[in-house]
Amino acid sequence: MTTAHGDHPSAEPATTTAGGVGVAWNDDGAIVYVGAADGLPWEPTLGLPDRRCIVPGFVDCHTHLPFVGWRADEFEARLRGISYRELHGGDGGIFRSARMFTEASDDEVLDFSRALLDEMLAHGTTALELKTGYGLSIEQELRAARLSRRLAEDAAQTCSVTLLAAHAVPDGSTRTDWVRSACTELIPEVAREKLADAVDVYVEDIAFSIEDLEAVAAAATGSGLALRVHADQLGDSGAAAAAARLGARSADHLNHCSPEGVAALAASGTVAGLLPASTFFLRGTPAPAGALRASSVPIALASDANPGTSPVVSMPEVIAMAAGVYEVPPLEALTATTLNPAWVLGLAGRLGTLEVGKRADLVLLEDASFAQVPYRPGHDPVAITVVGGEVMHERQ
Ligand code: NIG
Ligand code: FE
Repeated sequence: MTTAHGDHPSAEPATTTAGGVGVAWNDDGAIVYVGAADGLPWEPTLGLPDRRCIVPGFVDCHTHLPFVGWRADEFEARLRGISYRELHGGDGGIFRSARMFTEASDDEVLDFSRALLDEMLAHGTTALELKTGYGLSIEQELRAARLSRRLAEDAAQTCSVTLLAAHAVPDGSTRTDWVRSACTELIPEVAREKLADAVDVYVEDIAFSIEDLEAVAAAATGSGLALRVHADQLGDSGAAAAAARLGARSADHLNHCSPEGVAALAASGTVAGLLPASTFFLRGTPAPAGALRASSVPIALASDANPGTSPVVSMPEVIAMAAGVYEVPPLEALTATTLNPAWVLGLAGRLGTLEVGKRADLVLLEDASFAQVPYRPGHDPVAITVVGGEVMHERQ
């Protein structure tokens, strides 16, 4: 068995308990025993403890689900030399996904997104973030948040919902006008209907500024919602340092995070969200993962699942890319895909590690060593996914 420990973000690798180790849980799906297999309170019913590795279920704390429709032609265009920035605008990029979202029926959005949640389950994701951001109007953002809550209700996994209140400046609006409406109408209404747990802002020269982030942060805090930030993805805008100063749960992407940004994160309680699949897929500048690790900044690794920059939902794949792109060793990657993202989503008291009292959200890997996961990109290492004590996926 291999797991991280505790309820707080950590820069430490997960630890492995060798030998036959078992986990037992009660009828409510709460873990009641973790220890030597021969001390289990009852006969094991699942798995071969001496031949497989038990790890906590993966927690994917940065996705852009719900969305509907892919954008493979934009991917091809980028391979011909057109940049992500150039594709943004007109009917391309985020605006195109917003149009597809608006034109689709609720059932089309739910069906498309549910299929991706099932794919995530098969790859061991037992908790995740759902995020709005393809609404780009008050009405459609509220619809995205309500659909997220509906998805969360039926999903096998535990889902936390984030309102990406500032993703792109809607056509026909200005940056300032949109931020004002987001702060005075959207966020208060989302909080009133309890539709989201956190608020996110995309800080970038093609999106929103640090001032906008400050305004949204104040509105989020005023409504009792946590803050998340898309920071320094395409360029250095000082967003990582601002996220740290504003007490964000995480600053994500960080491709162009400066040494000052790294220092600010190290001095704060903000987790560094690294999204290696999106770096890989955009062929982007790698985030300063080495400096973050050297400064003991707790890292969360997530999929960033979205149709534009990361059409990837598999956490084993993300862990493989984190090894290849960011040199994150396997056992640090396990902390970064379980405990730390659980904290980012406000769920670490309930899940994210294999410890008595937490939910029995776990994955049985086919191999005895977790190091096999990044070693074989493209291969699904998950044999069984258990959520809240129930087997929700078993490889055929
Ligand atoms: O996290 N950077 C902003 N948002 C997404 C991409 C959205 C899209 O292209 O649809 C991201 O990379
Ligand atoms: Fe993102």
